[in-house]
Amino acid sequence: MDIFRLGLFLLITMGVSAEVQLQPLNAAVLRGSKARFNCSTTLTPSVMTWSVNGLLVVTIIEASGVLNITDRFSATNFTTPGNYKWEFIISNVQRNDAGEVACQVMGGERQIATLSVQERGSVEIVGGNQTKTEGDQMEFQCRAVGWFPEPSMSWSVNGVETSCNRSSVTQGSLFNSSCTLTVTAIKTSSVQCLVTVPALNTPESNTVFLTVNKNTKRDQTVLIAVTVAFSVAALLFLIIYGIVFLCRRRRTKKLSYLEEFRRARDGTPATQNVRGRDNQGYNTDEHDGHTNGGVWFTNFSNNNQVLDDFFEDGPMKHRHMTIV
Ligand SMILES: *[C@@H]1O[C@H](CO)[C@@H](O)[C@H](O)[C@H]1NC(C)=O
Ligand SMILES: *[C@@H]1O[C@H](CO)[C@@H](O)[C@H](O)[C@H]1NC(C)=O
Ligand SMILES: *[C@@H]1O[C@H](CO)[C@@H](O)[C@H](O)[C@H]1NC(C)=O
Ligand SMILES: *[C@@H]1O[C@H](CO)[C@@H](O)[C@H](O)[C@H]1NC(C)=O
Ligand SMILES: *[C@@H]1O[C@H](CO)[C@@H](O)[C@H](O)[C@H]1NC(C)=O
Ligand SMILES: *[C@@H]1O[C@H](CO)[C@@H](O)[C@H](O)[C@H]1NC(C)=O
Repeated sequence: MDIFRLGLFLLITMGVSAEVQLQPLNAAVLRGSKARFNCSTTLTPSVMTWSVNGLLVVTIIEASGVLNITDRFSATNFTTPGNYKWEFIISNVQRNDAGEVACQVMGGERQIATLSVQERGSVEIVGGNQTKTEGDQMEFQCRAVGWFPEPSMSWSVNGVETSCNRSSVTQGSLFNSSCTLTVTAIKTSSVQCLVTVPALNTPESNTVFLTVNKNTKRDQTVLIAVTVAFSVAALLFLIIYGIVFLCRRRRTKKLSYLEEFRRARDGTPATQNVRGRDNQGYNTDEHDGHTNGGVWFTNFSNNNQVLDDFFEDGPMKHRHMTIV
C-alpha cells in the first residue's frame, strides 16, 4: 500500500517536473492551408494530447500510436533519443480553428499556442491602364476585397514604394480596403498596388501602366507665346525708333525755320551763328573761272574750321563741299 502511494507520488512529481515545449507560440496561416506545431519533452510520456479551442482532436499513446478524430488533424513522429517530439498538423485550416491550440503530456503543464487564420482577398486597380497628357493630375484607386485581418497596402511607382491612406469597411469578418494614389503624369510609369497580411510571404499585387503623352497643345502655346513676344518687341522697337526719328526731324526743321526767320529779320548773316548762312542752293562758281560743275554752298556743318574760315574771309565767297 505504502509502496504504491510512493510510486504514484514519484510519478506525479516526475511528470510535473517534465519540461514541455510548444512551438511556435503564435502562428498565422491562410485559410485552407496547413498549420503545424511541435510539442517536445525530455522524458517519454505515456500519453500526449492535442486540442483546438478546447476540443481534443489528437491523442498519441506511446504504446499504440496516433488517434485522431478526423483526417484534418494528424501528427508526425519526430522523436530522437533524449527528445520526445511530435508535430501536430491541421490541414485545410478553417476560420473556426483560429484561437487556442494546446499540447499536454501526462504529468506536464498544458502548453498553449495561438493560431490566427487569415484570408487572402483580391487586388484591383480601378480603371486599369491609363493614358494621360503630360502634366495632368490624376488618381489611382486600389481596391482590396475580402481580406482578413485588415490588410497593409502600399504603392510602388516604377519600383519606388509610396505609402497610402487606407480606408476599410467590413463585411462579416472580411475587410474591403481601398487606398488612393495622387500623381502628376510626368513620364510613362508602372503603378503597382501591394496588399498583404502577416500570413502571406509575398504580397498580392496588381500592376497597371500609365502612358504619358507629350503635351503638344502646351508646346504650341509656348511657340505662339514666344513668336508673339518677339513680334511685339520688334514692333515696339520700330515704333520707338520711328517716333525718335520724327522728333529729330521736326526739331531740325523748327531750328531751320528759326534761323531763316532770324536771317530775314536781321538782313545780314548772323555772325554769332554759323547757321546764319544756310544753303543757298546750287550755284555755278564764277569767281574762279571754273565753269564746270557746281557746288553746294553750305555752312550747315557746325565746324570750327568753318567758323575760322568764315571770320577770316568774310561772309563772301566761301564754299564747302558736302556730299549729300
Ligand atoms: C518540428 O520539428 C521538426 C524536426 O525538428 C522540424 O522539421 C519541423 O519543421 C518542426 N515544425 C515546426 C512547425 O516547427
Ligand atoms: C516515434 O519514433 C521513435 C524514434 O524513431 C520510436 O522509438 C517511437 O516508437 C515512435 N513512436 C510511435 C508512437 O510511433
Ligand atoms: C487520422 O489521420 C490520418 C492521416 O493523417 C488519416 O488517414 C485517418 O483517416 C485519420 N483518422 C480519422 C479517424 O479520421
Ligand atoms: C495594361 O498594359 C499591359 C502592358 O501594356 C498589358 O500587358 C495589360 O494586359 C494591360 N492591362 C489591361 C487591364 O488592359
Ligand atoms: C492621410 O489622411 C490624413 C487624414 O485624412 C491626412 O492628414 C494625411 O495627410 C494623409 N496622408 C497621405 C499620405 O495622403
Ligand atoms: C466589398 O466588395 C465587394 C466587391 O466589390 C462588394 O460586393 C461588397 O459589397 C463590399 N462590401 C462592403 C461592406 O462594402
